[in-house]
Amino acid sequence: MVKTQKNLATAFAGESQANRKYLCFAAQAEKEGFSNIARLFQATAEAETIHAFAEFKAKGGIGTTAENLVSAKEGETYEFTEMYPPMIEDAKAEGNKEAARIFHYANEAEKVHARLYDEALSNLGNEPEGQDYYLCPICGYIHKGKESTSPCPICGAKPSIFKKF
Ligand SMILES: [Fe+2]
Ligand SMILES: [Fe+2]
Repeated sequence: MVKTQKNLATAFAGESQANRKYLCFAAQAEKEGFSNIARLFQATAEAETIHAFAEFKAKGGIGTTAENLVSAKEGETYEFTEMYPPMIEDAKAEGNKEAARIFHYANEAEKVHARLYDEALSNLGNEPEGQDYYLCPICGYIHKGKESTSPCPICGAKPSIFKKF
């Protein structure tokens, strides 16, 4: 059982990664004009999602929404306190500007994600339904509330490109 718990975690990580990888490959196939291959990658990406969901569930990864908000906040907090800061330093030290920028965007966005999860947890059950969220498609920043008129505070993108949820 101990082995299986560990295996479920490993499998979930692998399948989750394969899903995103295949979606990147599908977009590339589309760009090269191979629409059959693009659909093959899309279908397979979705299959990997089915595997990932089932493995995560079997692992006992899903709790109540209150528990899930705590878990999500912890994950985001780990990312901006422990994971990304040294990665940003390494990227800068190695002169990889692209990686440094991507890590910086993610690091700053994770702080916002953690704050939103924390707020959601505090307001759980007491917030009226109909709350909108706007996602910056460049850096992952999320704005809560009415449609923003100011540029993204992390990357400077125009609010008109934000995706509404
Ligand atoms: Fe995040
Ligand atoms: Fe942004």
